[in-house]
Amino acid sequence: MTARFTFDLTATDGMARTGVIHTPRGDIRTPAFMPVGTAATVKAMMPESVAATGADILLGNTYHLMLRPTAERIARLGGLHRFMNWDKPILTDSGGFQVMSLADLRKLTEAGVTFKSHIDGSKHVLSPERSMEIQKLLGSDIVMCFDECPALPADRDRIAESMRLSMRWAQRSRDAFGDRPGHALFGIQQGGLERDFREESAKALTRIGFDGYAVGGLAVGEGQAAMFGCLDFATDMLPRDKPRYLMGVGKPDDIVGAVKRGIDMMDCVLPSRSGRTGQGFTRHGVVNIKNARHADDPRPLDEACTCPACRNYSRAYLHHVFRAQEMISGMLLTWHNLHYFQQIMGEMRDAIAQNRFAAWESGFHAMRAEGDI
Ligand code: GUN
Ligand code: ZN
Repeated sequence: MTARFTFDLTATDGMARTGVIHTPRGDIRTPAFMPVGTAATVKAMMPESVAATGADILLGNTYHLMLRPTAERIARLGGLHRFMNWDKPILTDSGGFQVMSLADLRKLTEAGVTFKSHIDGSKHVLSPERSMEIQKLLGSDIVMCFDECPALPADRDRIAESMRLSMRWAQRSRDAFGDRPGHALFGIQQGGLERDFREESAKALTRIGFDGYAVGGLAVGEGQAAMFGCLDFATDMLPRDKPRYLMGVGKPDDIVGAVKRGIDMMDCVLPSRSGRTGQGFTRHGVVNIKNARHADDPRPLDEACTCPACRNYSRAYLHHVFRAQEMISGMLLTWHNLHYFQQIMGEMRDAIAQNRFAAWESGFHAMRAEGDI
């Protein structure tokens, strides 16, 4: 067990990278997919099941946990890891992004943001300093800077103003975080789809110095082509010897395209959320289990998948429990989806290590084009 937070890049293939982030709570193999455990649970999953899918780390949310059950309560109960029975690393998002999408009556100033809780309307304040305090109370292993991001499309002035505010907040986050051996603070690059603003942001963050660098402000409605176009230049502006994290992405083909462009970490609610709405991600594409054509189908969701949903249940059963609104429906589909996402990550790590990422990627796309699933 190392007491420090370090990143070893072990192989590259084109822009794609594979490596290991070492933390006192265990190693994170990269490229890594982080399941989302917003409210101190990956919905419909026991923590040991999340680990069994192959996840090395999960994501928690400052915004949700500060409102309920509060960071102070979690701290009194021994921290987030103990509270939710997950002893591997946890990354926490800083709250600003969620305030902008979820809270009511938001007011943004240089100091921070005041807002009303979407749960009970109570009034709260978040600032770089308060976000660092909350993430420390939670015991987060990877702390994110407090930032702000405009919805796209936005005009250049608005994007620049917002990015520069986020960079001032990044400095305040760095100052408030202090020196915490074994814990990491990641900066978040902003700047919309504009190359010059991405460059300005990367320079500002690198000057401050962080343990890792996130690409923020993408997957906010710009579409995959625009996102990839931005990643083509944005990723390489970030230091090569530190982990690079693309926030809130994405669908399997988004993830593959991001890894191809040099991203090491990702998170998304998609596998868990879609699992609860009857969507199964497979090598061949998305299966809508509520579709009547599955009602008599004795085959598993994916013949080649080794997850419990595919080993032990038919599409007919998954269809039935979804239609009957049984809880096991969300449990099985979430397990399968998380297993599938981790399967892709593992295959990409191996392919990069063996210098055959391009061939792996062609196979990935070819399998999805095969049609009826
Ligand atoms: N999640 C998805 N995008 C972002 C972003 O730009 N900033 C933060 N803090 N979280 C995100
Ligand atoms: Zn499966």
